[in-house]
Amino acid sequence: MDLHLLAAEPIAEERDAIDRFLGSAAGGWTGGERTSTDHHTASGGHEARDQRYLLLPALRALQARIGWISEGGLNYICERLTIPPADAYGVATFYALLSTTPRPPRVVHVCDDIACRTRGADRLCDELEKSAGQDGWLRSPCLGLCDQAPAAFLTEAGPEPVELLFGGATAASITSVLKGDYAPAKQPHPVLPQKGSQELRLLRRIGVVDPSSFDDYRAHDGYEALAKAALLGPDGVRKEITDARLAGRGGAAFPTGRKWDAVSLQPERERYVIANADESEPGTFKDRVLMEGDPFALVEAMTIAGYATGAERGFIYLRGEYPLARERLQHAIDEARRNGVLGESVHGLGVRFDIELRVGAGAYICGEETAIFNSIEGYRGEPRNKPPFPVEAGLFGKPTVVNNVETLINVLEVLHLGGARYAETGSGISTGPRLFCLSGSVQRPGVYEVAHGTSLRDLIALAGGVAGGRELRAVLLGGAAGGFIRPDEIDMPLTFEATRAAGSTLGSGVVMLFDDQVNLVDILRRIAAFFRDESCGQCVPCRVGTVRQEEALHRILAGKPIGGVATERALLEEIGLAMKDASICGLGQTAYGAVETAMKRLGLFEEASAS
Ligand SMILES: Cc1cc2nc3c(=O)[nH]c(=O)nc-3n(C[C@H](O)[C@H](O)[C@H](O)COP(=O)(O)O)c2cc1C
Ligand code: SF4
Ligand code: FES
Repeated sequence: MDLHLLAAEPIAEERDAIDRFLGSAAGGWTGGERTSTDHHTASGGHEARDQRYLLLPALRALQARIGWISEGGLNYICERLTIPPADAYGVATFYALLSTTPRPPRVVHVCDDIACRTRGADRLCDELEKSAGQDGWLRSPCLGLCDQAPAAFLTEAGPEPVELLFGGATAASITSVLKGDYAPAKQPHPVLPQKGSQELRLLRRIGVVDPSSFDDYRAHDGYEALAKAALLGPDGVRKEITDARLAGRGGAAFPTGRKWDAVSLQPERERYVIANADESEPGTFKDRVLMEGDPFALVEAMTIAGYATGAERGFIYLRGEYPLARERLQHAIDEARRNGVLGESVHGLGVRFDIELRVGAGAYICGEETAIFNSIEGYRGEPRNKPPFPVEAGLFGKPTVVNNVETLINVLEVLHLGGARYAETGSGISTGPRLFCLSGSVQRPGVYEVAHGTSLRDLIALAGGVAGGRELRAVLLGGAAGGFIRPDEIDMPLTFEATRAAGSTLGSGVVMLFDDQVNLVDILRRIAAFFRDESCGQCVPCRVGTVRQEEALHRILAGKPIGGVATERALLEEIGLAMKDASICGLGQTAYGAVETAMKRLGLFEEASAS
């Protein structure tokens, strides 16, 4: 695309899509009709630049209406927000769901990632290639619906855009959807194997409460935690969280109390709370289940986080492939406002707190906490260097709490039990309940809630064991950024400390099973392709290392290793070490994890190396 866009004009539909989102232009300085006052006074510069954070939603609005982002459309957004076109083009090309080349209005994104591969996604894509050709569908990384694999995501652009995430996809169902029959894509979510169990805490309302009803939420203990928070006061709430020893569920297991204390101690008064709902780690879908099934709980928990840390504004950063969660969360936010528990003066707390829903556009890296800031602010979703840490200088340079959705839902449980009692649940330093996403070759895939300390064996048994009674070959624990476990290691208790001692991680709660029929080298290659594709490219070890890693696996898979498999193994180790040591962020640092554990724990390539 030519970067000098100034001559390109939007078509009427593009202009309308952008005006509907941004409102009409005030004058000629911001893309509207030139008026006589425009000749005398310049306006729009600073004001419009302050609107930079509207760039991503404006691009999404254009994509949703037209199906792609043309030069004219992009140019008009740039005029409206006074952003240089080259800069905005850099943002538009960062996200997989946005297209800067023409795309048909109706597109199905078909997941060919690791959990869906165990359920025939690759065959499905081959069939589609034969029956539907290349038009109207695209291969996609994990869509967060691994429990209903193979998964697909429909987007239809137009004045009334349609988005549907659906499971159990077949070549026939996708072909129907491509022809405009959406019946196969209209499916109930979420599905919960433990629905109604008395032992559930985090999931207890899922499938029980009406997710669209504020009154029903209240009838199921909703807003009791907020009432307790009001009695405790901000310092008291933070003390309970610290006493509970609540650790983050987003992957890094950072103590939530310390994070909240650090923000509350900052001299800067403008502060933010962000619920990290980006959930794009392959195999992870627990946050989707929470948001689809119990959206008011996240709104309540964020309000408490705002109260405890002195923040008046919160953002939910939601991945773009969760349309149902988006609809339900937006409704919950609106209802909470209408009922006075969100907005200018939160009932019971007497403070101001409001939430804005921000929707991503297909970029795994935007789940990294500092990349979220850039994405919300309207820049490419590239991680920032730390320090400064988000608690000091986060969103818009202000102190910011970033917490995973499941972490925030635990806040309600901490206030319900009290910090000390919560700390007695779970095991050792791993307090409280934990959600795990079971997928792959498992009998009953889904999100399961167990206490920390439950063994991996018991968790797998809870989900019905290996599908079809076949033999277990390996378990991927913690996600693509985690690592593999052997079948003889599954008595490991699921705690932060036990998995760490075993050189593994709970990560984002992924437990993906692979039976003895799965081609693990192909799975590794797909994981490597994922990291290569999702690397933001900002630092060399990750940008180059993820490419080289994938290439080596390709060669091994194709039976054409350079210098033999042992040489390729040594190369993979060297690349992995460089990525771990020298990458800026967690993506590059963990991109070798699955490959390393497959080689060192599962002994993959050993036979081939010996021969
Ligand atoms: C590449 C990358 C992607 C991440 N994606 C997510 C995500 O989707 N959701 C999430 O909660 N944390 C994600 N994280 C972790 C966040 O950076 C951060 O640690 C977390 O949101 C903090 O919340 P917690 O303390 O409640 O876990 C990701 C980290 C990296 C490096
Ligand atoms: S490690 Fe990878 S994803 Fe992270 S900043 Fe560097 S290039 Fe970007
Ligand atoms: S939805 Fe396909 S791997 Fe997760």
